[in-house]
Parts: sequence; structure tokens; C-alpha cells
Amino acid sequence: MNVLVTGGAGYIGSHTCVELLQSNHNVVVVDNLCNSKREALSRVEKITGRRLAFVQADIRDRNALDAVFSRHPTDAVLHFAGLKAVGESVAQPSRYFENNVLGTKNLIEAMGDHHVKKLVFSSSALVYGSEYAPPLTEDLLPNPGNPYAENKAEIESMLQDLSGADAEWRIRILRYFNPVGAHPSGLIGEDPQGKPNNIMPNITQAAVGRLSFVEVFGNDYPTHDGTGIRDYIHITDLAKGHLSALQRLSKGANVLICNLGTGRGFSVLELISTFEKAASRRIPYQFGPRRPGDVPVLFASCTRAEKALVWRAEKSLFDMCKDSWHWQNMNPGGY
Ligand code: NAD
Ligand code: WQD
Repeated sequence: MNVLVTGGAGYIGSHTCVELLQSNHNVVVVDNLCNSKREALSRVEKITGRRLAFVQADIRDRNALDAVFSRHPTDAVLHFAGLKAVGESVAQPSRYFENNVLGTKNLIEAMGDHHVKKLVFSSSALVYGSEYAPPLTEDLLPNPGNPYAENKAEIESMLQDLSGADAEWRIRILRYFNPVGAHPSGLIGEDPQGKPNNIMPNITQAAVGRLSFVEVFGNDYPTHDGTGIRDYIHITDLAKGHLSALQRLSKGANVLICNLGTGRGFSVLELISTFEKAASRRIPYQFGPRRPGDVPVLFASCTRAEKALVWRAEKSLFDMCKDSWHWQNMNPGGY
């Protein structure tokens, strides 16, 4: 297939480009590089021994999208482009709405005009909010608790309306849980700008001495060791979930929402101790207060993805830690 990947230079997009190229798909990446580097795509080419096309453009730029669709025959779009920092979305809600919601509106309008009606969209477990007890199933009503999660819920709803209005559209909405890890080659991985928000880059940066310690947010949760429990999923498993969704786009419902997780939760302390074993080094950490908005326990129900996508996450927490460490150790300063 000829696949257009928006946000393809980013963390999840770059790993998905590897899987696409290795499965003989042709790839065109559209990315404005606001949170990524061109180098990630050179590394994708190095891993796969294949070339991809790169267009530096913003998904809000309709002329640029028209030019891409006119020049590159496209069968389907994997749409990763977006801003993803929850705290930043609270501080800058209109910027997030504009980039994420209006950017996606612009993209689907351009797709429709160029008769490209196959789409896989990156949504988030955050659309469930904090009210539901895990395992979280896709039929729960979205209950977003911050502007970023609201963006995802609004886009999901726009895509469902689009499918209702035009039955030619084939859409898969994938709700990711906690993607971590890196390609086993160590050539590509997560490279956050500034102080990382998420737990794994905090651990890897502490491991290479870029941070003096990891602050563990809360040790008084009602969990076995008092720290928060999450459903961590290896980035290559997540990337493969997109390939399964793409391969089965023509089968089943016109629009379908699927969780991508492992269905299993681990605590922050379990993550740190597994990382210590995988990297053969101690990770300094200190307990701090709970982070506002965090919930004690989150993990996915994966039944729907197993049936509809014929996909299941395969890699262990140890694999996630080993590969995150390998990437950070080979690239202590990122790309
Ligand atoms: P990322 O920031 O590494 O990648 C996103 C890419 O999109 C970046 O390369 C950025 O430059 C690009 N981009 C942003 N706005 C753009 C625009 N207007 N036009 C063109 N390019 C633009 O993030 P990621 O972790 O790879 O996330 C990819 C997608 O998955 C995002 O939509 C994110 O919300 C979603 N998601 C991520 C996580 C996670 O934990 N990483 C979890 C759930 C959902
Ligand atoms: C994991 C655990 C923290 C940082 C959400 C979404 C997910 C994705 C990422 C995009 C929690 C604890 C964290 C730190 C810590 N976003 N923690 N110290 O918030 O579970 O996931 O954001 O859509 O889809 O669900 O991820 O990695 O920030 O936190 O103790 O420095 O680690 O309290 O228990 P989160 P996270």
C-alpha cells in the first residue's frame, strides 16, 4: 500500500514507519518537525535499508496537503501528528484545539477531496478519564479530564460522524495506553524536548545521569506498593497494531475504536526495579506528592483488538526496559 504518515518523524510514527517499510509498504511522511528531528527518518531508512519520502509541512496547511496528495498516490493515512503534553494543553487550550482538532479537520477534508478514505487515528486512553474501574473497555463513554483528552474525544466523534455521513470511509481509532521502549537496534527511540513528562524517559535520563533522580509521584495509592499502576506497551508492539489495523481496514465495521495495551498493569516501583535489572544499574528515586489528575490504576481490556485486529502485544516489561535503555545508552543526548 501507499501510506501517508502524518507525524511520522515522532516517537510512535517513526517506529511505525519501520514496520511499514519492512512490510513492503511505500511511505510518505508529513511532519512539521515541531516536536521531532529529521534525523529520526534517516535512522528509519538505515534500519530498513529502504527510502521514504519526507515533506516538511503542517497538517493545518491545506495547500501543502493538496500538493502531497496530488504528487503521491495514497491508499491510506496513518494520522499521528499532534501535540501531546497534557500540562501544556491545560495552559494553552486554544493552541491544542487549533493544532489537534482543526489540523485533523483539515486533513480529513483534504483526504475526502482526493478520494483517500482510509484512516487510522492515534487516540489515547486518556479519553476514558478517571471515573471508570479497569479493565477499560471501548464501549465506556468518553469522559476526558483535560484539553488534550478533549481534543482526542472531539476528533473521535468527528470521525464517527464522518463515517455516518459517508459509508465509503474506513476508519480505525486506536486508543494507546502507555507506549514505552524503543526499536531493538537502539537507533530510534523517544526523544522528548526539555524535562520529560512521562515516566520512562525520566528513568532513562536518570540512568545516563541527565537527571539526578526520578521523582515517583505518590506512594500512598491503594495499590500493593502504594505507587500508580499503568498498562505499559512496547513501541514495536504498538507499531505492529497499526499494521494489523491497516491490513484489516476493509473488513468489519466502517469505523471501529480499539484499545492498544497489554491488558496488564505494573506499578512505578515495579517498572523501576525491572529497569534496574535490564540496565544492570541502580536508578535513584525519591517519593514526591501525587501528580494532580493521576489515577491509581489504569489498564486496558484488549479483547476487541485481539478479535478485530488479530493482534496482541508480545513483548514483556523487561523487553520494554532493555530497549529503552539500549536507545538512551547509545544516544545519551537524544538524536
Ligand atoms: P511525538 O510528538 O513524538 O510525534 C508527533 C509528531 O507530530 C511530531 O513529529 C510533531 O513534529 C508532529 N506534529 C505535531 N503537530 C503537527 C502539525 N500541525 N503538522 C505536522 N506535524 C505535526 O508524539 P508521539 O508520542 O509519537 O504521539 C503520536 C500520536 O499519538 C499523537 O497524536 C499523540 O497524541 C498520540 N498518543 C501518544 C501517546 C504517548 O504516550 N506517546 C499516547 C496516546 C496517544
Ligand atoms: C505513568 C506513571 C505517574 C512521571 C498518559 C496517557 C498515555 C500517554 C501518556 C498520551 C503514573 C508516574 C510519571 C514521573 C512518576 N499520553 N510518574 N514520575 O499519565 O499514565 O499516561 O500520558 O495520550 O496515553 O494515558 O503516563 O508516564 O506520565 O505516568 O512517578 O516523573 O508514572 O504518576 O503513575 P500516564 P506517565
